[in-house]
Amino acid sequence: MKFPHQVVLITGASSGIGEELAVQLAAFGCKLGLMARRKEKLEHVARLVEDAGGVAMVLPCDVTDFDQIQDGINQFAEAHGPVDCVVANAGTGQQVDALNFDAAETARVVNVNLLGMVNAFYAAVPQMLERSHGHLVGVASLASYQGMPQDAGYAASKAAMRIHCESMRTELRGSGVDVTCICPGFIRTPMTDTNDFDMPFLLEVDDACRRIVRAVAMRKRVYNFPWQLWWLIKIGMRTPRWIYDAVISSQSSKTAKSTRKQARSTEDK
Ligand SMILES: NC(=O)c1ccc[n+]([C@@H]2O[C@H](COP(=O)([O-])OP(=O)(O)OC[C@H]3O[C@@H](n4cnc5c(N)ncnc54)[C@H](OP(=O)(O)O)[C@@H]3O)[C@@H](O)[C@H]2O)c1
Repeated sequence: MKFPHQVVLITGASSGIGEELAVQLAAFGCKLGLMARRKEKLEHVARLVEDAGGVAMVLPCDVTDFDQIQDGINQFAEAHGPVDCVVANAGTGQQVDALNFDAAETARVVNVNLLGMVNAFYAAVPQMLERSHGHLVGVASLASYQGMPQDAGYAASKAAMRIHCESMRTELRGSGVDVTCICPGFIRTPMTDTNDFDMPFLLEVDDACRRIVRAVAMRKRVYNFPWQLWWLIKIGMRTPRWIYDAVISSQSSKTAKSTRKQARSTEDK
């Protein structure tokens, strides 16, 4: 397989999916702009990229700040040429139940996930349109398709990302700028390491990133994976809401009960 882009910017490149994508794209000889807040982590990823045959530029920034992203993209383009592909992968989110619901936390999640992607896309799009060449890739989630307990803010931010990608894709059709929305299921990364529930069809990060790289190379419009979880979700979406609600809430109250039981038995010890 050939990867069609040379100059690639990845947000959220300091760990998990972003780190692994950078290392895999290095093997295709890509020049990589690595964005995230933690500079030391990015420097570590840059060394891995260089060991794998790529070129890396560390661009510490907070994706919620448009000016920081724009400066980073300008620096990267000056050093390595115009950006061919932006992978907006930076993300955050944790489970919050209704009792501990906090609008400020939801605002933070929406800012990083949705507006972080929007900032990265809009900072790159003028140059891409000028050259009639480019590829915008948003890393959303299969969580974007249906609401699950304690997942409201994260799932809503991911649904908004998916719809945003779809709007841009239709608008930019024929302009030479492609848009891909990646919707993964569960992948083993620092984000999921703290999950205390079963994660069906969990993928290792190297396997997941090989699939993502292939989907980007094929310029897929939307890539939902793994297929097993995507099919379960499709069935869920076609299920009458009263059945869906009953099944999902009984599963979640079972999980909550077993977590409470585990917590009690740990306290007793
Ligand atoms: N793991 C999964 O199962 C899964 C499934 C579906 C979708 N996803 C999505 O995949 C993406 C990557 O997640 P991951 O699993 O690789 O998690 P991760 O290891 O926690 O990585 C998250 C990345 O986002 C960066 N980030 C967070 N807030 C940021 C900010 N304000 N500005 C700049 N960078 C920021 C983090 O870097 P710093 O902390 O250094 O800034 C880190 O590099 C996320 O969008 C996530 O929602 C993950």
